[in-house]
Amino acid sequence: MDSRVHSRKHTPADGASRPALLLAWYDRHRRKLPWRPAPGVAPDPYRIWLSEIMLQQTGVKWVAPYFEKFVARWPTVNDLGRASLDDVLRMWAGLGYYSRARNLHACAVTVSRDHGGIFPDTEQGLRALPGIGPYTAAAIAAIAFGRRTMPVDGNIERVVSRLFAVEETLPQAKPLIQRLATTLLGSARAGDSAQALMDLGSSICTPKKPACALCPLNEDCLAYARGDQQAFPRKAAKKTGELRRGAAFVVTRGDQLLVRTRAEKGLLGGMTEVPGSEWIAAQDDNAARKQAPPLQGVTRWHRKAGVVTHVFTHFPLELVVYTATVPANTRAPGGMRWVPIATLKDEALPNVMRKVIAHGLGQ
Ligand code: ADE
Repeated sequence: MDSRVHSRKHTPADGASRPALLLAWYDRHRRKLPWRPAPGVAPDPYRIWLSEIMLQQTGVKWVAPYFEKFVARWPTVNDLGRASLDDVLRMWAGLGYYSRARNLHACAVTVSRDHGGIFPDTEQGLRALPGIGPYTAAAIAAIAFGRRTMPVDGNIERVVSRLFAVEETLPQAKPLIQRLATTLLGSARAGDSAQALMDLGSSICTPKKPACALCPLNEDCLAYARGDQQAFPRKAAKKTGELRRGAAFVVTRGDQLLVRTRAEKGLLGGMTEVPGSEWIAAQDDNAARKQAPPLQGVTRWHRKAGVVTHVFTHFPLELVVYTATVPANTRAPGGMRWVPIATLKDEALPNVMRKVIAHGLGQ
């Protein structure tokens, strides 16, 4: 079957007008996002960088309020470079993937100390900074500095793999998709081309039931012509990590909760948590329960019905929650502290711990 079965209103067969069609669509339909300047206004590299770090593993809707809070408190990279890591982690709490917050802080310190507060304007220069990998370097170079490069995220992978009906499976197909995506750049406005594809992927070329009738590139889309858009991108079978299990202990002393700070390195490094057991595969419930904090006043642990589940990048987690109430004079065991439940919002609490505490306190 000829792939170009649809009536052709404005697209030549060679796809040469795709960049212009895409930009024209973007000019009409771009999402208003807090880090995007109004059309014609020069972007602020600090805001673009901050948004791209936040967007690395988190969706636009979830990121927007965090972005606003950060720029209100730290309007420039020099302000952020002067902040304490603790303050940055506290503001980041709830966004997940906390190594991003540490790198964010390290990057702000580097840019303000070694670069006079000016971000490097090339992909290579950006990649030398903490927390900036190839994708983020390309995104900042294109969006903040207009460099002719295409950052390919999941949305763009989907759009491009459909447009060209890429048969190769992900992740092997990444280099091919990168090359094809680059053909969608015009001679200028690289950042807008990239953001046009991102917006197209999130509003029209969606994973399920894409709204192809509204797509500016539909006349030229191989998957649309064949009617199998949803089959792209093709993916290799996914291996998820093994389920890990553990116990968490929610201990209250009046209106205070027992917490500790996680080790600096590793998963959720430096974040606040309630005491708990190891998180391991095939965890034995009794072994986990024996890892309860050594508290004088506890006569009995109450096992909450149900479990708290959370999915990390590399493994799903299931936690059994135990609760206890201790007398007013009970001392916190070594390395732990009491914090008022009313001020928990000021702690760097990861989402998994918010769930555990809510479950334990019966909220
Ligand atoms: N995801 C990553 N960067 C983005 C951006 N600049 N706009 C929309 N979504 C994004």
